[in-house]
Parts: sequence; C-alpha cells; structure tokens
Amino acid sequence: MVSRSGVSTFAYRVIAWQQQAGRHDLPWQQRGRKVDPYRVWLSEIMLQQTQVATVIPYYRRFLARFPDLASLAAAPSEDVMALWSGLGYYARARNLQRAAQLIVAQWGGRFPRNADDIQTLPGIGRSTAAAIAVFAFGARAAILDGNVKRVLARAFGIEGFPGDKAVENRLWALAESLLPERGIKAYTQGLMDLGATLCTRSRPRCGACPLAAQCVALRENRIAELPSPRARRAVPQRAVTLLVLHCSGRVLLERRPPKGIWGGLLSLPELAAGQPARRYAGATQLPVVRHAFTHFRLDITPLLCKVSRCNTPEGGIWLDLKALDGAPLPAPVRKILASLT
Ligand code: ADE
Repeated sequence: MVSRSGVSTFAYRVIAWQQQAGRHDLPWQQRGRKVDPYRVWLSEIMLQQTQVATVIPYYRRFLARFPDLASLAAAPSEDVMALWSGLGYYARARNLQRAAQLIVAQWGGRFPRNADDIQTLPGIGRSTAAAIAVFAFGARAAILDGNVKRVLARAFGIEGFPGDKAVENRLWALAESLLPERGIKAYTQGLMDLGATLCTRSRPRCGACPLAAQCVALRENRIAELPSPRARRAVPQRAVTLLVLHCSGRVLLERRPPKGIWGGLLSLPELAAGQPARRYAGATQLPVVRHAFTHFRLDITPLLCKVSRCNTPEGGIWLDLKALDGAPLPAPVRKILASLT
C-alpha cells in the first residue's frame, strides 16, 4: 500500500486526518516558532503515562521555573521534585534532571539530535527518543507507545499480546515500514492523537476514523479482541468427588481443617483420591459443579447415596436440608445441597 509519492495510504490518511482534526494548539507544539528540543523533551516525558489535560498546567509551571536545560541542570533537586509533585511516576523527574546534567556535561549543553543518542539518556526509551527526534529535529523515526500499538494491532490485524517480545518486534518493524517520506511530524502526532482520541481501548469511534476503510479489526468485527490481552497462565485443574450421604432429610457434613480451601466451613465428606467408589455402588452421580478459585479450578462430582441408618462417624454432623440457610457452607456445596430440595 505505497502510493507514487512514497507515502503509504496508511500514512497519508493519518497525516490528512491530523491536519484536519488532530491537536494543534498544545503548548509544546510551538507552531511558527523555532522548535526548542528542551520543551519537546519535557513534554514527552510528562506525557508518559499521563494525559494531555493533566500535563498542561504542570508543563507551564515547570517551564516558568526552569526555562531551559541549563536552569534545570543547576537546580536543587527538591525544587524539581516540588514542581513534579502530583504528576506521579517521580522517577521521571529524577531522570529528567540527571539527563539535563548529562547533556550539559557530555553534549556541551546541546540536546543530541539523533534518536539513538537521545535514547542513551536516562528515562528515555526507544519510542520517546523517536518522538523527541521527530518533533524537535524532524527525524524520520518510528514511535511505538501503548496507544500506537493498539492502532497498529487493529488496523493490520496483528494478533498476540503487544507486550510479548515477538509481537512487539513485529509491531516495530511495521511501524518503521509505514513511515512517510514527508510530513513526519503530522504523521507522528496523528498516530498519537488517533490512539488517544478515536482508537481508544473501549468504545473506539470507528465512524470518525480515517483508517476505517482499511482497518482489519473493523472489517472482521474484532475491535474488542485486538490488541490481544496478555495470555492467561493455564489455570491448574483439580477434581474431587464429594459424598452426599442423605438420610431422612438430612445430609452428613464435616468441618474443614482451619487452613486450606474452605477453612473452618462445613463441607461434604471428600472421597480421597484413589479411594474406591465401589463402596458407593448404589450411588447416583449428580451433575458436576465447577468452581473457580484464584489459583485453580475445581470440578466437583457429587455422589448421592441414600442411606437408611443415620450413623454418625467421628467428626460428622447431620444437617437438616431445611436448615441450609444459616449453615457455614462453601458456595458450591450449598449449590449441591440446594439442588436436593
Ligand atoms: N503523548 C505522548 N506524546 C504526545 C504528544 N506529543 N501529544 C499528545 N499526546 C502525547
């Protein structure tokens, strides 16, 4: 999908949409002014994990107190932290000042221009380095933050959890391959704006999306499935057989040990693993009850044995089926017993 101008249809659509409907008046966009890399960097760090509306007042105050890299590098660290107070993720502020000091010491106070050099600074990963290189210097570099991962996974139908290394590598390769020859700033801002405003995690506004015509997830009705969630670890499964000894309207229960599942509650006697069910040859198997615990799943097979003599084994308690309500029973046991009445 590459047109004659060398701009992919994808990039063309993002750029056209950004110019028409994207965000143009953010304080760090510095339209019509000479771009100050310091301001771009500061805004990109503040915007990590934080929404634009929250960032704006912090950005203004920070810039008023530290108008340039040198003033930030020389400031007492408490002053920097005080201005960050309330924005959260305070490592960002510490790294910001450390990076400012490094730029003064190692780069002569001039912000490095290429994404690889920018990425060597504390607190700046691959995507943030690319965003700074794009907005400050017009570099042709690909970004891939959480929002952009979502846009790409949906538009191109990329399966798999984007946090997995293999999936992430695929997304990076795709992001690189989509870069336009021209209009890199509008394109990069457009991807961010799309992810933040239209292609949201839940209830995306596909009707307004410039990529709707080519979006694989939309076409295949998989918007809610993409990007794929983290694979859940397989939950271990266990199975038990519980005996329902039923005698003249009562059932035999026993108290569970204080530790472990259903600790201290009354439950049905458990047929130990390997114990022959032969003894209960006349029993009726009731429907399996499945119960989810935090760390495993339990399939319970209840075996109903009607007995005529209500002998009480050691530790046994006969419970009248009419008295279920107040009894301290685990939910699945209550369900089994309720099915008898
Ligand atoms: N999130 C990260 N960078 C951003 C930017 N430049 N504009 C809007 N949201 C962003």
